Parts: sequence; structure tokens; C-alpha cells
Amino acid sequence: MFRAFLLKASEGRSAPDFSLKSLAGSPGRTDLIARCIISALYSTKGPRKDSRLTLVLEGSPDPPVTVTFEGSIMESVPKSEVGAAKMLFDALSGIKIRGVKMERKSFERAVAEMREQQLPIFYLHEEGEDSRGVSFGKDSAFILGDQKGLDPQSEHLLDGLKAKRVSLGPYPYLASHCITIVQSELDLLEKR
Ligand SMILES: C[S@@+](CC[C@H](N)C(=O)[O-])C[C@H]1O[C@@H](n2cnc3c(N)ncnc32)[C@H](O)[C@@H]1O
Repeated sequence: MFRAFLLKASEGRSAPDFSLKSLAGSPGRTDLIARCIISALYSTKGPRKDSRLTLVLEGSPDPPVTVTFEGSIMESVPKSEVGAAKMLFDALSGIKIRGVKMERKSFERAVAEMREQQLPIFYLHEEGEDSRGVSFGKDSAFILGDQKGLDPQSEHLLDGLKAKRVSLGPYPYLASHCITIVQSELDLLEKR
């Protein structure tokens, strides 16, 4: 089952100007973003070939920028936050990394492309429908907010597209934990 994750990082830096020495301390919440990269793509057996992560970086200095990590063609995925942040830093610096692509694309455009790829879109939301009652197809797209959640305009866009709101449990979890939960649930479904 293919999974495309999209994290809307409202403060994620849109240039390689964050400190790798203080991911949580410098603006942009690169620590959160780095954890999402690891959760979506890392496995001890190598990059998850069934997964893609798109980061929509909406923070200063020049948003929006998207960085997409395509597990099926990546050669390796770091397992440390600093390593994942360094990969993002390099991609934003224009360094070519197999399977990692930087583009100038808005959240709206990134979502539209998911639709064009015929991916059913699920919006991960604490108050959505219990994920265990939802039937996921062969391929699915999952949209997540950052520490602030999704803004009303983005929610409006997703509602307009009839993206189903799916809950992973009754607590607000970290975005990276949500990705791990989805990975686990789909892995278990696939094994049945
Ligand atoms: C740290 S949470 C955001 C918390 C934020 N204060 C809010 O109220 O939305 C980050 C993202 O993870 C996803 N998320 C968190 N808990 C969830 C849950 N129980 N079920 C589904 N998605 C969840 C949502 O997409 C959320 O925007």
C-alpha cells in the first residue's frame, strides 16, 4: 500500500538558514520536520519504498517551498534528527540528492497534484472518523498540520475536496507520531 504524506509546516524555513546545532532552538521547528522525515521514510531495512513525504515549507524567508522525499528512489534515510535536518538543509541549498526534490509549490498546488495522481486524500484530524473503521485503498494520501494544526483556509480547501477526516485516537499526537501510527496500521492491514 503506497502512502503519500504531506506536512504543512507553517513555520518551516524556506531557505537553508537554520542551525543544525539547535534544531528546536532556532526558528522553523526543524526538529518536528526532521522527525517526520524519519517516521515517513526510515526503516532498518533501508528507505521505505512504499512512502513519500512532501513538506510544504511556509516559513521565512521566501515561501512557499516544497521538498519531496520519494522513498522508492532514495538511497538512504538518516535515522537521527540532525541527519534528517542536514538532508533537508542540503536539498534547500540546491545539492542534488537522489529521491529528494525541491520545488516552488504551494499547499494548494501540492494537494491538487495528489488529486491529479488519483490519490484518495485523508486529512488526519483528532476529531475525525476512527481510522480503524476507514477503508484505505491501495494508495492513499495523508495530510497533517504542524504544531499549530491546519489553518481554517486549508481546512476549507480540504473540505471542498471532500477529504475524509480520520482520527488516530482521542489525543492530539505529534505529527511524526501520527505518521508512525499510519505506517503501522497500513503495514498491519497489508499483512492480513
Ligand atoms: C501536534 S498536532 C497539532 C496540534 C494542534 N494544537 C491542533 O490543535 O491541531 C499535529 C498534527 O497531527 C495530526 N494529529 C494529531 N493528533 C491526531 C489524532 N489524534 N488523530 C489524527 N491526526 C492527529 C493533525 O494533522 C495535526 O494537525
